[in-house]
Amino acid sequence: MTADIIDGDAVADAVRDDVATTAESLSAAGVEPTLATVLMGSDPASETYVSLKQDDCAEVGIEARDVRIDGDAPASELYDAVAELNDDPDVHGVLVQQPLPDQVDDDEVVRAVDPRKDVDGFHPENLGRLVRGNARYVPCTPLGVQRLLAEAGVDTAGADVVVVGRSTIVGKPLATRLTTKNDSGNATVTVCHSRTDDLAAKTRAADVVVAAVGVPELVDGSMLAEGAVVVDVGINRVERDGESTLVGDVDYESAREVAGAITPVPGGVGPMTRAMLLVNTVRAAGLVEGVDVALEAV
Ligand SMILES: NC(=O)c1ccc[n+]([C@@H]2O[C@H](COP(=O)([O-])OP(=O)(O)OC[C@H]3O[C@@H](n4cnc5c(N)ncnc54)[C@H](OP(=O)(O)O)[C@@H]3O)[C@@H](O)[C@H]2O)c1
Repeated sequence: MTADIIDGDAVADAVRDDVATTAESLSAAGVEPTLATVLMGSDPASETYVSLKQDDCAEVGIEARDVRIDGDAPASELYDAVAELNDDPDVHGVLVQQPLPDQVDDDEVVRAVDPRKDVDGFHPENLGRLVRGNARYVPCTPLGVQRLLAEAGVDTAGADVVVVGRSTIVGKPLATRLTTKNDSGNATVTVCHSRTDDLAAKTRAADVVVAAVGVPELVDGSMLAEGAVVVDVGINRVERDGESTLVGDVDYESAREVAGAITPVPGGVGPMTRAMLLVNTVRAAGLVEGVDVALEAV
């Protein structure tokens, strides 16, 4: 069997089109959806991520504010900037780029963002709502994975899903969403991590495997059931034949011989994460301004 490729770039394009239409109607209603990104320090990868987010906003008609704070500044400068954006009626989404310098307490920053403007969906109030089954903002990567599963025609109801990785930004919220009693949930989910015994036995028993680990090519074809759907969240830079290249947490070549459908890296989950930030931002604009936004991401 050679797996169908789940094309994240194409799905992300469709999501962006929907966001652009929504941004246009918001604009017609007098609301200019606005995202503020906050970058503290000058980590090159973070600089790249922030500038991509700014570009993505421009492409779909979302205003972007680019707030920069010196990496040596006291943490209070970051909290003050976040408080100012929380209070600014023209700003609808606030995103603080991680990782942050050592003097900043990551948890405190996450809690500092107004939950209604928390387009990352990491605030405890928003994670709590997600667990209760009435999510306000679903974190962008899990939301992107859910949309890819829907596009691949996966009926999650009753499906056995293995999520490898239990991070707060990917594995845990995704597992929670997939077990939620609704049309994009109702799966039976096993969450695996570094202390899981016999990972291969677990993944081999799954209809769907999502790898969010950060270990290059950890999941290979021998660990999959014939016809399984495989979603690779991993982004790992490795040296191959003297060149730097990106690989996922799945060994793509062996996995695609066994899987029924698979996401590539790059071009799978990555573009979906970016697109879902735009979805959360126009939804935030609607929420903050009290305007109905009928944009369902999944
Ligand atoms: N495509 C995207 O848009 C996107 C977005 C976010 C992240 N990512 C990528 O996704 C990957 C995961 O990111 P993350 O932030 O979730 O990572 P993370 O916070 O480092 O969490 C990694 C998880 O994998 C588990 N793990 C590590 N080694 C393992 C092993 N050998 N067997 C089984 N489980 C293992 C860890 O277990 P413990 O809990 O026991 O330590 C942990 O739960 C990274 O490659 C990251 O770059 C991509």
